[in-house]
Amino acid sequence: MVRKVGVAILGLGVVGGGTYQTIVDHHDFYLKTQQIDLTVEMVLDKSEERLNALGIPKDRWAGSIEEVLANPCVDIVVETIGGVGAAKAFVLAALRDGKTVVTSNKELICKYSHELERVAKRTGCGLYYEASCVGGVPIIRTLLDGVQANHVQKMMGIVNGTTNYILTKMTYEGADYAETLKEAQRLGYAEFDPTNDVEGFDSMYKLSILSSMAFHTKVPYTNIFREGISKICTQDIAYGKEFGYTLKLLAIGKNTEKGIEVRVHPTFIPSSHPLASVNDAFNAVYLTGDAVDDIMLYGRGAGALPTASAVVSDVIYAATHSEVKYSTFKNTEKAEAGVKFVSDFSSAYYLRLSVQDAAGVLAKISNIFGKNGISIVQISQKNGAEGDERVPLLVITHKTSESAVKNAVAKINATQLATVDAVIRVEA
Ligand code: HSE
Repeated sequence: MVRKVGVAILGLGVVGGGTYQTIVDHHDFYLKTQQIDLTVEMVLDKSEERLNALGIPKDRWAGSIEEVLANPCVDIVVETIGGVGAAKAFVLAALRDGKTVVTSNKELICKYSHELERVAKRTGCGLYYEASCVGGVPIIRTLLDGVQANHVQKMMGIVNGTTNYILTKMTYEGADYAETLKEAQRLGYAEFDPTNDVEGFDSMYKLSILSSMAFHTKVPYTNIFREGISKICTQDIAYGKEFGYTLKLLAIGKNTEKGIEVRVHPTFIPSSHPLASVNDAFNAVYLTGDAVDDIMLYGRGAGALPTASAVVSDVIYAATHSEVKYSTFKNTEKAEAGVKFVSDFSSAYYLRLSVQDAAGVLAKISNIFGKNGISIVQISQKNGAEGDERVPLLVITHKTSESAVKNAVAKINATQLATVDAVIRVEA
């Protein structure tokens, strides 16, 4: 029997517009495959220009959230506004009113899922957020259902398309960071203020959500080590290639005996690693479970239709399931008592130094590494530019602690013989 399901979309930007289009274009398909008569009953957006451009009939335009919630034909509310201002207030209002919510808002879910889920449970509503992480790639559903049989031990993701586009250009075209960023802004990948993407905040929010689900415990974003790509030099990407590495901005989560380790930073990975071939604005998540071993999900992490694919799939799930599945962990603001986080994590490192090209300098620098318990795998001196007193010295270390590297860098910088100009973590 066909059921009528009404949707309201809050925010008709790129994702909201894509969601509207997807629902309208696929109406007959969902009728046939899902036995639902899925329609957009109301939309809420301040821009009349946008509503007209999407061809949304005027009788579907709402003037306020109250008008949306008062409409008895609205069963599911889709939030595609973004941010944690109006979006949070509207989502809470919808849940309190007994409406299931589907959202694409990573910051909202990362920071407030505990609060939203509490209300959803009280009113028996669904709260779905597949589109909050990695756009069209169904990673949330995979974590919630597909790999539930496993202890997920490790997760490495390229979860931000803007930075992956920039790093790909720097890698394959040798362009520098500033000019590539400008190109990314011109093409609409990077925003006018690119901080959220390039400094790793977007990846950090996503990692908080994904690792909470993977490790069945709240992983607050405040526990995540974060470093962006804005200080990356194209020269280091080229030097890394000589060692067989490719540079990616990775979101890394590990569940180890010492505790949970979560970090976002530019990372050299072996060029033979499947993530190394994820290029341009594409995203991927590579995860390891104790039963399934390695899995990789790959696809478009942003864009109107790929993200709408995730939103509308959630809408269909909500429309066709009466039971709601909430988080598999105690969804509190902070991690539960007893959960440990590793802050002084271990990694291999690539370091680029500028050193005086003179007898005894290398011995002194090696001595500093040795005294800090850092074992060197490879060392390579490069030619400097004509007339330079200093030359680049590249060092690859064995696995060592972040604190040991910080100490060694401070000691080297204090010698007057060398400076450390780049530190990049290396992951196998
Ligand atoms: N700004 C994000 C990216 C897309 O560049 O991947 C939305 O999460």
